[in-house]
Amino acid sequence: MSELGLGENERLFILTGAGISAESGLATFRGSGGLWNGYRVQEVATPEAWETDPELVWRFYSMRRRDAMAAEPNLAHRALATLEQKLGDRLYLCTQNVDDLHERGGSQRVHHMHGSLFQSRCVRCEKPFADRAFYENAAALPVCTTCGAAVRPHIVWFGEIPLKMDEIYSRLAASTHLLVVGTSGSVYPAAGFVQIANQGGLKTIYVGPEEPLNAEAFDTIFLGAATEVLPSFLL
Ligand code: APR
Repeated sequence: MSELGLGENERLFILTGAGISAESGLATFRGSGGLWNGYRVQEVATPEAWETDPELVWRFYSMRRRDAMAAEPNLAHRALATLEQKLGDRLYLCTQNVDDLHERGGSQRVHHMHGSLFQSRCVRCEKPFADRAFYENAAALPVCTTCGAAVRPHIVWFGEIPLKMDEIYSRLAASTHLLVVGTSGSVYPAAGFVQIANQGGLKTIYVGPEEPLNAEAFDTIFLGAATEVLPSFLL
C-alpha cells in the first residue's frame, strides 16, 4: 500500500471501469470506437432500443455474456481482491463494469453500479435473478415465469439511474482516498465522483494508460496498464 499511502484508519473508495478488464480481453467502450456490429453502443444500450427492438438488445447482451464467460480475471482484479483482504471494511469497490471478473478475481463485496451481465429482471416484477442464458432470436426472447411480462437484462442503460447511488455517496463521504482505475471519465455520474471527492478533501488517484477526460481533477495519475500499476500498490 506504499503507493497509495493509506494510513491505519484511512478508508479507500475504488471506482473501476472497462479498462480494468481490457487485459482480460474484453473490449472497452472507447477501444471499440463505441461500435458493435455497425451499431453505436449508445443506440443499443438504451430504454428506447429495448422498446423498439428487444431482439437486437438481447443479441448484444448475449454476445457480451459469451465474451465475459470466455474471459479470465487478470492481475489487476486480483490485486484489488488482495487489497480487500488487507483492508476489509475500509475498502469499498464500486465498478461500472457489468462483467463478473472482480468476483472471479476474489473480491467478496462488489457494487455493480451499472448492473450485472449475469442477471436479468422482469420488466413488471422488477426482481433481478441469476441468468447465464443466451437469447439470440425472436422466438427465444425470455418472459417472466410468474407474470408473463418481458424479461430484460439487469443493466443500467443510458438515461437510467445507476444502482444504490445513496450508498455510493455515503461511502464516498466516509472515505479518505479515491482510487479510479481504467475509466475514460466520460459517463456520469461516475465521472463526477472525483469532484465530489475533492470537495470532501479525499486524496484522489487515477490509474490507466492514458489520461481520462477529467484528469485535471486528480491529485495523482499513474500512467500505465492496470496489471502493471495495481500490484505495486500492494508492496
Ligand atoms: N488498464 C487500465 N486502463 C485501461 C487499460 C488498461 N490495461 N486499457 C484501456 N484503459 C482505459 C482507457 O484508457 C480508457 O480511459 O480504460 C478506459 C476505458 O474507457 P471506456 O471504454 O469509456 O469505459 P468506461 O469509462 O468504463 O465506460 C463507462 O460507459 O459504455 C458505458 O455503461 C458503460 O460502464 C460503461 C460506461
